[in-house]
Amino acid sequence: MNRQFSFYICLVLVVMLHSSLQAQEYITVRTKHNALVLEVTQTKEVNTIYFGKTLTNEADYSKVASQYHQGNDYTGIYNAIYTPSGSKNLLEPALEVTHSDGNTSVSLIYAGSKTTTISKGITQTEIDLKDPAYPFQVKLFIKAYFNDDIIEQWSEITHQEKGKVILQKYASANLYLRGNNDFWLRHYHGDWAKEMQPEEQKLSHGIKVLDAKLGTRANLFQPSVFMVSLGAPSTEDQGEVLFGGLEWSGNFRTDLEVDPLNNLRIISGINNEAAAYPLQKNEVFTTPKFWYTLSHSGKGTASRNIQDWARNYKILDGKGNRLTLLNNWEATYFDFNETKLKALIADSKKLGVDMFLLDDGWFGNTYPRNDDHAGLGDWQENKKKLPNGIGTLVQTASDNGVKFGIWLEPEMVNPKSDLYHKHPDWVIKQPHRAEHYFRNQLVLDLSNPKVQDFVYNIVDNLFTKNPDLAYIKWDCNAVIYNAYSGYLKDDEQSKLYTDYVKGLYSVLERIRKKYPKIPMMLCSGGGGRVDYGALQYFTEFWPSDNTDPLERVYLQWEYSYFYPSLAMAAHVTNWGKQSIKYKTDVAMMGKLGFDIVVNELSDKDLMFCQQALKNYNALKNTIWQGTQYRLQDPWDHEVASLMYVSAAKDKAVLFNYLVKDRYDNGSHLPIQLKGLDPSATYQVKEINVYPGTSTVITTTSYTGDFLMTIGLNPNVTTSHTSVVLELSKE
Ligand code: DGJ
Repeated sequence: MNRQFSFYICLVLVVMLHSSLQAQEYITVRTKHNALVLEVTQTKEVNTIYFGKTLTNEADYSKVASQYHQGNDYTGIYNAIYTPSGSKNLLEPALEVTHSDGNTSVSLIYAGSKTTTISKGITQTEIDLKDPAYPFQVKLFIKAYFNDDIIEQWSEITHQEKGKVILQKYASANLYLRGNNDFWLRHYHGDWAKEMQPEEQKLSHGIKVLDAKLGTRANLFQPSVFMVSLGAPSTEDQGEVLFGGLEWSGNFRTDLEVDPLNNLRIISGINNEAAAYPLQKNEVFTTPKFWYTLSHSGKGTASRNIQDWARNYKILDGKGNRLTLLNNWEATYFDFNETKLKALIADSKKLGVDMFLLDDGWFGNTYPRNDDHAGLGDWQENKKKLPNGIGTLVQTASDNGVKFGIWLEPEMVNPKSDLYHKHPDWVIKQPHRAEHYFRNQLVLDLSNPKVQDFVYNIVDNLFTKNPDLAYIKWDCNAVIYNAYSGYLKDDEQSKLYTDYVKGLYSVLERIRKKYPKIPMMLCSGGGGRVDYGALQYFTEFWPSDNTDPLERVYLQWEYSYFYPSLAMAAHVTNWGKQSIKYKTDVAMMGKLGFDIVVNELSDKDLMFCQQALKNYNALKNTIWQGTQYRLQDPWDHEVASLMYVSAAKDKAVLFNYLVKDRYDNGSHLPIQLKGLDPSATYQVKEINVYPGTSTVITTTSYTGDFLMTIGLNPNVTTSHTSVVLELSKE
């Protein structure tokens, strides 16, 4: 009896010890300034117990929750790392499925985890979760870029059920930020030529959804990038702020839910609207990555983290060169021929750019591409405009010592095209409904491998015929209407939005395998598509068709929170009434290009542009690879001001633009610079001075300390609306 009693005591003790050990199982993901701490609970659920500044004492993370008295979590999973639906969950789920037997519940129980070092400063944590009632598993990935304070999260979903499982919602990440009561969301809305319009508001209880349902050109109304400030709206240098975005070039959805305990749940992934995804036994569904960073010193730090990370890991050739260019879109639109283009190529040389870029209108014979109603899909040179083909243009460019690039919109088709008549089944459209067009065109069905081959071959054929072709501008001007695929089975139509993007990425993957370095611009009638999913294949993007330089100051300012300057194509065009100097000064803060009629420039304008290009070439490395500091924002000031500082702090460029052109406006006060070496002396010299005018800044030397403490007045006035200054360490 005694022995039996002590056996039971022992058993109870072992069980108690085991559960207390279980309760103490933590998974910690660290970056330079932050820790994400997950707890495996006694019931084996994985919850976020901390995401914030690293604490010095590791044991303290487990004590954080006890300091918050916010009420009851009736489920124990408000803070789940991946909230499953249909079991005990009461809030927005990250995962919703219908099992093969029709059951709609999921529960996710911890089954192990491991952390590996991928490369120096990059770790990857994998967490295995299993449904105890079904052979259904989720693997969560948390990739941490230590130095950049950036985390990427995504999941892999699979099962061994008898029939297919339908994924109704399949998010990439599920974050949990503990209550400050105030969460301030800054997000963006827009339309054609009005991209990246910011809005900032305090989140109220319930769910704010950021999403896209447009299929292609997904960011037209709203991109997936956003910021959430904790406590109060953060400024450039102050405040706790999280930046995030989805690496996906299609429909996305981000739920920002202030829960009943006043904490913020963020769930981001592919939009589940009309996108239920059937998953066969043992098939693995990998969700796209959601990236995020948390800064404790305002938006500036967050954006510098992202820019570094992007150049190092996410943008194709992020540390490499970019080409300045002359584009013919606004110079000619569709109205050109070989003679005209050859003259423009010669103009590229005269201007001093690296490349001539031939835009839309060079193809189509049965249905010539003379406007945007016809020809898309027929990628043969138009014989009337280009009787000798692209080859002769590439040759002329080479004779002039410039490179040659070309525009494509390979995912699209005009109903007035040979392609449309030959392959109606390749076109996304409902069989029983009237076609509905966006810019007179329809989208090709990239879920279909034959269409993928077709798109790949457009690019491959061009390069095979013209090996010296140096650049592609890849455009995408339509959204998906009437989503229906002639390729997918009728009961799998809801895969289309997702498989379209997968198909697109697989084509781009193939292109990159064969042409790893060719620079490509990601364009979508402006900024309708940029994200870090696409940018792994592209060297730059087109932020907007709106090139009015005043608008561009604002647009490029907002984009710069999320993308570095070397990826942001910025062209001098006829948009806007400002001087060529103002236009060029604004375009120089990004990747500089021109889209003007060079031979219509006055002698002085031409001289100015030529000199500006020389200045740009001398400074481009600092602009592209340097650290960016936003000094004075255009929203609240008369003068917007920003600067780039080289890694060695020996060079810097300061751009200043008058953005409110009213009586007596200008830079009345000095602007404090940032990021310089306080003990160094810098020579400050005005560049981009218009021929025949004198400088507004006399070349003078100042210490870094002076420039950062007192500041410098760039002398911007209504008669000197932009001033560019070069700083060189003496
Ligand atoms: C939309 C792009 O944004 C423009 O730059 C230009 O390439 C046109 N498409 C051509 O159709």
